[in-house]
This record gives sequence, structure tokens and C-alpha cells, in this order.
Amino acid sequence: MHDNQLTFAWRSPSNIAIVKYWGKHGDQLPDNPSLSITLSQAYTETTLVARPLNPNEAPGLTFRFAGEQNPAFAQRVAAYIRRLGSLAPAVKDYHLTIETDNSFPHSSGIASSASAMSALALCIAELQATIDGHTHDERFQREVSIMARLGSGSACRSVYGPASLWGSTEIMSGSSDEYAIPLSNIHPVFQSLRDSILIISEEKKQVSSSAGHALMQGHQFARARIAQATQNLKTLLPALHSGDIITFGRIAESEALSLHALMMTSDPAYILIQPNTLQVIQRAIAFRESSGTPVYFTLDAGPNVHLLYPESHEADVKAWINNELLPFCENGRVIHDHAGRGPQKVSSSTTLGMTKR
Ligand code: PMV
Repeated sequence: MHDNQLTFAWRSPSNIAIVKYWGKHGDQLPDNPSLSITLSQAYTETTLVARPLNPNEAPGLTFRFAGEQNPAFAQRVAAYIRRLGSLAPAVKDYHLTIETDNSFPHSSGIASSASAMSALALCIAELQATIDGHTHDERFQREVSIMARLGSGSACRSVYGPASLWGSTEIMSGSSDEYAIPLSNIHPVFQSLRDSILIISEEKKQVSSSAGHALMQGHQFARARIAQATQNLKTLLPALHSGDIITFGRIAESEALSLHALMMTSDPAYILIQPNTLQVIQRAIAFRESSGTPVYFTLDAGPNVHLLYPESHEADVKAWINNELLPFCENGRVIHDHAGRGPQKVSSSTTLGMTKR
């Protein structure tokens, strides 16, 4: 081991957008403001070991995912680090060894970019902050959020729990297109919100999110979409503070359907939901209406369904999922998650000892 070697390790969660980010421009800047709940069980753990270069040695990168070399991911990580440029000049003085793993199975159909890119940004930002001599403070989190955004837009929101907002909007002071900000005074019902993720398909989606964002440029409904997202945010913020789950659920569902409607009206048009997505959605609505249980659906850019509900209804909702919904899930797979507090610094030994899944 090199004497001056530095090690950083972080666990960072995924997030689920309630008001969706869809469409981007410039340097990964959002076309509309978005708001998400930070999750906790679906996370990435990343360790970065930075070894000072020997004389005449060029900077380099060793990368392992789930304990194994992965050339495709390694290339993406190398391109990302180059892209950070002046945000992380310190990386040029080190050979970097990055080890990363997810708490959820890689092929589960869960988007891992938010957790992966935020965990990586945390490690690199901490390396830079250590060299610059500034400790973990608000500035550090903001720098992490900016760096995470450059890896994957939605990743910038994972830096804060239990909820965060990204995108400049006049209805939230301090909001920015460049980084997310934490939302304070969230009602306890949302601080412990449950999110059961029904895996309808484990397959990689046909059209990537990047391609989907690009199709929003010149989309016939682009202006209307920006107005809709802003209005939904305006309605959602007071509901988040007061604990109004009905308004929250109405917006979550409307946003999910709008996101997929935008895909279906893109040019070229495409469809990511599947028959079983609709089966689950229809059953969720019927269950809510017949039992009065406040359970609401939302979707990411894919066929999997997120069911959102208060912790107080956990037992009933899990029983209903087990009785009625498992046949619609690929291999009967459901991931039960909940709102969380955001990233955690971990000791490197924990990270390297992660079990492979
Ligand atoms: O962060 P990206 O580029 O993977 O985009 C994610 C977009 C959605 O997940 C569909 C919505 C969102 O705001 O997270």
C-alpha cells in the first residue's frame, strides 16, 4: 500500500421522481423542474482509492463492478471523469481504483444511474475537497450535486433526503438548473413513505432515457409539459408539508401517465409500458377505491410500477401485493423500499466486503 494513498467510500440511494424531469438541454440542464423522494434500500456503494502517481506515470483508472472488471462501465466512468474537468482537477494526480456494487440485482430493471452516479460523485468530490482542504458542508453537497448531474440528471437529487428539488423555478427560492436542493419540513407521512417496486420486466429498455430526453427537443407538447410540471410542483409543495397524501398521489399518478404520454407522442413514438404495467395500475386503482387504502402508482422511464403508500398501511398493502400482484411481476419480483435520509459515508472495509448478488 502506498503511504499517501487516499480512500473514500459512500453509499448513495436511488430516488423516485414525483414530478418528473423529462427533456434536457445544454450541459445536462433540465427543461422543467422536478421533485423526488430519496429511497434507501436501492443503493450503490462505491469506494475510490486514489494513489499518487509515480514519476512519469500517467493518470489511470482501475474499475470493478460487483468485484469484476467491466470494460463497458469502465469506459463510461473514464469519460465521466474527463467530463468533470475543472470541477475535479485533483484526479489528474492519481491512479484511481474504483470499486462499485448495487444493493439490488443489476438486471432487475431498476434504473441504477441515480444511485451509481451520485455515489461516484460523492467519492470524487470528497477527494477534491480533501485536496482543497474544505470539509463536508453545504458547499460540498452542492458540488456533489453538480457533479452527479453531469453523470445522470436525476442523480443530482439523490444527494439529499427525504425529498429534493432540481431545476430553476420561481416558486422555490434557491432552486437551480445546476444542482438539486433539499426540501425541509416534509410531513412525517412522506419522510417514512413506502415504495414497493413491482418488477414487470427485467429487460433493458428499448429506448434509453437519454434518447427520450432528446426527443423532447421540438416535441409538439414541450411547452405544455413545462407548464404542467411547474403547476404540479406548485400544488405538490404544500401537500408535502401538510401531509396531504391524496393530492400527492393524484400528482404522482398524473405525472407518470404524462411521462409515458410524452413518449407515445414523440417523433418517433415509442411505448415502454407493458400489458402487465396496466394490469397493476388498474388493480391499484380498484384496490384503493374498494378498500380506501391510500396507495398510488408512479412510473419511471420503463414498465416497472412503483406503489407509494404510508408506512401505517404497510401490512395491508404488502398482503394485497402478495395475493394479487405477484403474477404480473417477472419472476414474482418486488423490491420493498422506503424514503430515506440520503447518502451515507461508509468505511471502506464495509464496501469491499459487499456480498455479490
Ligand atoms: O437521469 P436520467 O437521465 O436517467 O433521467 C431520468 C428521468 C426519469 O427517471 C424518467 C424521471 C426523473 O425525474 O427521475
